[in-house]
Amino acid sequence: MTRNTMTALEKSYPEEGLWMVEAPVPEIGPDDVLIKVRKTGICGTDIHIWNWDEWAATTVPVPMITGHEFAGEIVELGRNVQGLELGQRCSGEGHLIGKESRQSRAGKFHLDPGTRGIGVNEQGAFAQYLKLPAFNVVPLPDDIPDEIGAILDPLGNAVHTALSFELLGEDVLITGAGPIGIMAAAIARHAGARNVVITDINNERLQLAQHVVPTVRTVNVTEEDLNEVAHELGLKEGFDVGLEMSGTQVALDQMIEALVMGGKIALLGIPPGSSPVNWSRIVFKAITIKGVYGREMFETWYKMIAMLQNGLDVARVITHRFDIQDFREGFAKMKSGHSGKVVLDWTNVTT
Ligand SMILES: NC(=O)c1ccc[n+]([C@@H]2O[C@H](COP(=O)([O-])OP(=O)(O)OC[C@H]3O[C@@H](n4cnc5c(N)ncnc54)[C@H](O)[C@@H]3O)[C@@H](O)[C@H]2O)c1
Ligand SMILES: [Zn+2]
Repeated sequence: MTRNTMTALEKSYPEEGLWMVEAPVPEIGPDDVLIKVRKTGICGTDIHIWNWDEWAATTVPVPMITGHEFAGEIVELGRNVQGLELGQRCSGEGHLIGKESRQSRAGKFHLDPGTRGIGVNEQGAFAQYLKLPAFNVVPLPDDIPDEIGAILDPLGNAVHTALSFELLGEDVLITGAGPIGIMAAAIARHAGARNVVITDINNERLQLAQHVVPTVRTVNVTEEDLNEVAHELGLKEGFDVGLEMSGTQVALDQMIEALVMGGKIALLGIPPGSSPVNWSRIVFKAITIKGVYGREMFETWYKMIAMLQNGLDVARVITHRFDIQDFREGFAKMKSGHSGKVVLDWTNVTT
């Protein structure tokens, strides 16, 4: 590495927006690698940071290079790094963890209470170069293209949530047809679910779900009655498994009603603030609820790459691609709700 500055998208001021800046190329430590970023995905989290909402303002220090969904190529290895090579295409886990906590020492790295996120608490991936601990690197096989590599982080959220409970032969209800809900529908299908139903209130999102997963049954809950759909599909007592991916109380309530006795719910969606829950309904229906955060390190990554190599196809969830110079357009698309995943291309940066 001879260059010492790079182009990056930074939250430079505590106000709405992101700014394209020249920033120092990160200096790596002995256990890190330096990754030349090729493609990045825009996440809902990046939109929160762009908008500078209350969560962002109280969480993200300024200045901060944002972004955590990426694919690139290793261009520098720290002196202790083994098992990785220069030129290796990779993605990587954006949650940085410590190794001292009880959970980490038990091998449950994704439950480390000291987890810090790149692009949120530490310099992120919206840059020509990213510093990452070698531990977090996930090499990309040749048959997984860069743009899929750039969305493995949210696909991993979907995989972690969907595989929380046995899906083979089960009837699965997914609430929220955002990019993650749609990818979860594809995974549920791949994992052998009998019926996969996905709900939303936005028809465009439901059309995208149908486009990505042709065999999914889409339901606009403002237009159709979920119980009637369940009946029409031949469900007698309700859905076996629910994957909550909208982050809304309304959808969770509806899911609880639509589940069988003893049904299971994996909760990925993040509702704003606290909300009232009808706990007695959950108790009397003997429902199991599991909160899901991030991805399992590294079982989720292993399973997701294996599924992608064995027929799982989520490519159509990427609806827009922009050169990084046009990042404003990319963020506008994402904010409009008229998109699936938006991928930014860093390979044409000339500075
Ligand atoms: N727990 C984690 O680690 C983690 C990680 C990533 C994302 N998330 C959360 O997961 C959720 C999904 O992420 P995403 O990027 O796909 O989000 P998104 O905002 O793009 O999608 C949410 C969808 O839910 C729909 N929706 C709103 N009200 C609804 C209702 N009543 N019924 C059904 N659908 C409804 C919206 O129209 C939207 O299409 C978000 O809440 C996000 O914050 C959690
Ligand atoms: Zn993300």
